[in-house]
Amino acid sequence: MSELTRTALPALTIPPGDRLEVVSAWDEATPYQSWRPQILVPSTFRPAESTRVYAVVNQKGGSGKTTTTVELATAWAARGRRVRVIDADDQEAALSEWLLPQYPQDRPRHSLRSVFFDECTLLEATYPTLFENIDIVPSSLDLKRVEYDRPIGAEMALASALRQEAEAHGGRSPYDVTLIDGAPSLGLVTVAALTAGDQVLVPLAVGGLDLKAMASLDRTITHVRAKTNPKLEVGAVFLTAWDKSGFARQLASKVTEDYPEAALFPIRRSVRAAEAPIAEQPVRAWAPESTAAADYDQAAGLLLAREAAE
Ligand SMILES: Nc1ncnc2c1ncn2[C@@H]1O[C@H](COP(=O)(O)OP(=O)(O)OP(=O)(O)O)[C@@H](O)[C@H]1O
Ligand SMILES: [Mg+2]
Repeated sequence: MSELTRTALPALTIPPGDRLEVVSAWDEATPYQSWRPQILVPSTFRPAESTRVYAVVNQKGGSGKTTTTVELATAWAARGRRVRVIDADDQEAALSEWLLPQYPQDRPRHSLRSVFFDECTLLEATYPTLFENIDIVPSSLDLKRVEYDRPIGAEMALASALRQEAEAHGGRSPYDVTLIDGAPSLGLVTVAALTAGDQVLVPLAVGGLDLKAMASLDRTITHVRAKTNPKLEVGAVFLTAWDKSGFARQLASKVTEDYPEAALFPIRRSVRAAEAPIAEQPVRAWAPESTAAADYDQAAGLLLAREAAE
């Protein structure tokens, strides 16, 4: 693998005028005309102090899960963190197509499916990507077999694989951050992702009927907490493709009521961000000057403790 040339992701220089203000409570009294998107970081919010596993989940299609996964991964990788992304979506043209796992020639290829069926360890299913500091556990269409065959212990499979891996590395994951990109469903693989996560990150597309989706996700989170992962927290909600509207503000208020402990990150709608998947590049690489790249960069900085303290 040593001959692989990996692209280093650059740090972003965000003009001060493009940075969003960070507040710890909304000022509900601000009139609509002068209202600006703000990042809400409640005073109870705890940034990650050690390795952390995030499950990026919303069963609603197109809510921004893959974009959020890729942009946080690239932002942390640019800061020198060792990041692993796990593609838990069996759709084609998703994360695995985008970050291009580099498979060795001389070994059989594994994917997340192999981990569920106990055919290999998580680390054996982890491959470098073309980007420095980002490795990936790829998905495949046959990940669907998990839902059909329901292998014994599937709900716990990812959590156990992560725990075994940490145990084999002196009690600490070899990665600073693991991000699991969920599928648009609340099936067994998504439950396994929530069971493995320290925190859920929820992308909500502003303008969609996402409040309804949020209610079903909430039921699943409650169920996972009761049955398989009592420590699961809602770490942050991303309002993706945000633009100024009464609805965006309503959605933001509802989210802060339901998840008072979660950070809330508006990610401004950007044509350049929408182009990035077509160019098969992270937004950060395709359009580093875009507001979407800047907003994800700010979010990534606030989610990790060392940076928040800087
Ligand atoms: N800030 C943004 N501005 C404009 N377009 C965006 C923004 N964020 C995401 N998009 C676009 O929204 C679409 C859906 O995003 P994405 O693929 O990340 O959603 P998803 O939840 O992973 O979808 P799926 O449920 O199919 O896996 C993509 O075309 C993406 O480029
Ligand atoms: Mg996706």
